[in-house]
Amino acid sequence: MRLFPLLVLPLVACANAARVDAIVSLQGDAANGATLYATNCAGCHGADGQGGSAPRATGRDAAEVASVVLGGEDEMPAYADQFDDQEIADIIAWLDTQG
Ligand code: HEC
Repeated sequence: MRLFPLLVLPLVACANAARVDAIVSLQGDAANGATLYATNCAGCHGADGQGGSAPRATGRDAAEVASVVLGGEDEMPAYADQFDDQEIADIIAWLDTQG
């Protein structure tokens, strides 16, 4: 059983890679993304995504945003269990409207 985490971690990484592909292929709803962003992300990244306590979240490649949102990174929480693929696509669509 000690090997269990070693076996599961790469599987999680693969699952996220498949989800990244699915997310970037979806048509995002920026209006819904705005609500999700305001509730979940603005506290760290600023109301307009230009940065706050965390670096700016706008201007990133869609696949990069999807990957960071799913898996987290350092202080950035992971949202793989909280959002479905469409919701993450919606957030990305909104970020794209912010430049
Ligand atoms: C608790 C604070 C916090 C919350 C909430 C948060 N983030 Fe982050 N986020 C961070 C930090 C800190 C980083 C930088 C991580 C690093 O050092 O690599 C980051 C990185 C990112 C990046 C990559 C930026 C870059 O420079 O490559 C994106 C995109 C991003 N976050 C989007 C989001 C979205 C979308 C949400 C909401 C679903 C969100 N974040 C919620 C703290 C947060």
